[in-house]
Amino acid sequence: MSEVSAQPKHFLSDRVSHFTESVIREMTRQAMLHNAVNLAQGFPDFPAPAEIKKAAQDAIAADVNQYAITWGAKNLRGAIARQMQTWQGVPVDPETQVTVCCGSTEAMISTLMAVCNAGDEVVIFEPYYENYGPDSILSGAKPRFVKLRPPQTPHGEWTFDEHELRAAFHKHTKAIVVNTPNNPTGKVFTRPELELIRDLCVEFDVLAITDEIYEHILYDGTQHISMASLDGMQDRTITINGMSKTYSVTGWRVGWTIAPPKITDAIRKVHDFLTVGAPAPLQEAGAAALSLPPAYYLNLAEGYRKRRDRLVPALEEAGFQCFLPRGAYYVMTDISVFGFADDLALTKYLVKDIGVAAVPGSSFYRDPRDGARQVRFAFCKRDETLDEAARRLRKLRRA
Ligand SMILES: Cc1ncc(COP(=O)(O)O)c(C=O)c1O
Repeated sequence: MSEVSAQPKHFLSDRVSHFTESVIREMTRQAMLHNAVNLAQGFPDFPAPAEIKKAAQDAIAADVNQYAITWGAKNLRGAIARQMQTWQGVPVDPETQVTVCCGSTEAMISTLMAVCNAGDEVVIFEPYYENYGPDSILSGAKPRFVKLRPPQTPHGEWTFDEHELRAAFHKHTKAIVVNTPNNPTGKVFTRPELELIRDLCVEFDVLAITDEIYEHILYDGTQHISMASLDGMQDRTITINGMSKTYSVTGWRVGWTIAPPKITDAIRKVHDFLTVGAPAPLQEAGAAALSLPPAYYLNLAEGYRKRRDRLVPALEEAGFQCFLPRGAYYVMTDISVFGFADDLALTKYLVKDIGVAAVPGSSFYRDPRDGARQVRFAFCKRDETLDEAARRLRKLRRA
């Protein structure tokens, strides 16, 4: 009998060879392995609001247990449209413009698959949320990166160069991905910055795909502005959002897109064949969540402001140079002072020897060398968790 040894790689698509598994999710596995405090992945370790959990239980008890309408339960789509009108003054037709997906993760990939052809380019600011790279590749598009530069002063802002951004736009550009408030930098894009992006989108006939899942997590008086609210952008913006961060339910997997009707039709087709639909009872709970009073959002932001102001001094005391976030719940740090070979060496030491998991900066850049001096910490955690991390980090020695 002849021995046949099929190399597994022969069975795999070329597509998957162009990216690796998520470093962020791997760091969570490492944290569990080494019993480390997990400041790597962005999920809260405190309970979700009781009224939302009750709404989910009620929906299951009322037998909302079968497929919802593919593009989302009517109740939830109505609530999403109302919120966009209330918070951003953008009128949305829930029948033709909203698609509920399995998290904003699915919303992003369904969108890119719905709008990109092979050879299209997608402009992405870097450092970037790591999903955008594989998302572009899976949709056949080529990512084109434009640098966000770290603040030059202790509490300054991340900025981009207008000329560099303009140079990234040309006739093959299909879309720009804008994530504001931003993961991992905590940058909140200002109106003039968004208007600049808007002008380029109009000039080069390009779509804006905006990931706004941290829209309510804002500090220091910053304001979230939806790209779709800018003049001239309603017909060329796909707004992506979800329940994960605003309602502390990252495991529920409910997100959505808001887009012009023709683009929505295309997104709904992709979404249907990828997942059929998001969990039906959790969509009902989503409608209840999106109807919470304005005070809920103020408390959410204030809670995270306190957590930020608890973790940042602890990191600074341990020697990290922190880039103070203005939104979202991460802090990017510069690690030069420690004298480690790179971000991977430090995060490995942190998780194994210090007992704190963080994310190596290189996972947010196309060229790992660009992030070799940066590490990201998440502060969506209980005070006890942040204090325990601080206690462990005090053991860290500077070079
Ligand atoms: C910028 C950004 N977009 C999307 C996601 C994923 O969101 P969801 O849970 O809705 O899929 C995350 C999660 O960390 C994120 O930081």
